[in-house]
Amino acid sequence: MVSYKDLGLVNTREMFAKAIEGGYAVPAFNFNNMEQLQAIIKAAAEEKSPVILQVSKGARNYANATLLRYMAQGAVAYAKELGWENPQICLHLDHGDSFELCKSCIDNGFSSVMIDGSHLPYEENVALTKQVVDYAHQFDVTVEGELGVLAGVEDEVSSDHHTYTDPEEVIDFATRTGCDSLAISIGTSHGAYKFTPDQCTRDPKTGKLVPPPLAFEVLDGVMEKLPGFPIVLHGSSSVPQEYVDTINKFGGKLPDAIGIPEEELRKAAKSAVCKINIDSDSRLAMTAAVREIFATKPGEFDPRKYLGPAREEMERLYKHKIENVLGSNGKA
Ligand code: G3H
Ligand code: 13P
Ligand code: ZN
Repeated sequence: MVSYKDLGLVNTREMFAKAIEGGYAVPAFNFNNMEQLQAIIKAAAEEKSPVILQVSKGARNYANATLLRYMAQGAVAYAKELGWENPQICLHLDHGDSFELCKSCIDNGFSSVMIDGSHLPYEENVALTKQVVDYAHQFDVTVEGELGVLAGVEDEVSSDHHTYTDPEEVIDFATRTGCDSLAISIGTSHGAYKFTPDQCTRDPKTGKLVPPPLAFEVLDGVMEKLPGFPIVLHGSSSVPQEYVDTINKFGGKLPDAIGIPEEELRKAAKSAVCKINIDSDSRLAMTAAVREIFATKPGEFDPRKYLGPAREEMERLYKHKIENVLGSNGKA
């Protein structure tokens, strides 16, 4: 058993309590490799922002579970080296799909896990989430559950429509499972294609697609039923058009990629939404930087010469999110 406390990590309990109180959200950035991790830590340390290092099942397999534990421990040491005296860093499993996976993460240094039973019948979701909570809380590890289904690809399960979270279910779910936070569905979705063009309108001035608004009434309903309970938004990338344009200009093909407008995320961050998940935007930043270098410097073959600029671009992106979207700068 490796305790996250010995790695210098923290769980989400205090992070979320402060975020709700302060009207901001903690960034949960997914990572798969060293450059993403370096960029996240550098941005968080310089911004003094609490941060959640988020790892999917696929990312854990990609990186290797043992190496990952040391990477997280190294991240804390790196943050201190950068002058962040008391780093508030959480290592979180994203979209855990079984008790065994959650247990393995808890036993190997994770300070928080998500058990995603959102595709299961309600009673099965409750039972599975409770099983994970009962195990996790013995070690002071926090647990995120999910109610409602996001459109798009979620946890290797694809759904072509949303099932918004039913505010009537949240009290029962939170009480019976004992989960520490709850991911809800209000119209966000995973990936770089959050809306089809026919779900959008077109701005007559720019000709750009304008996505439909998020279902803030569902969020309001949840907050009314569970005042002060930490809410999580998945699928919260904004799909910056400058990255999409760069990718398409230099040989990529991402037609009609579209995300969640930043104003909507800013509004959510001021509410009980205290964790906002961002993965696709970092993937786009990295891909745009690498594609541009491959196209403009075809003789370059030193990975540091293309992954280095990609890392800088991701750091810029993370700082922008922290300062201008989540408002978590200066909070740790
Ligand atoms: O919610 C999904 C995250 O973006 C992780 O994606 O399973 O491809 O690592 P992944
Ligand atoms: P995006 O695909 O919008 O970045 O969402 C990531 C996410 O929710 C990870 O769990
Ligand atoms: Zn997600």
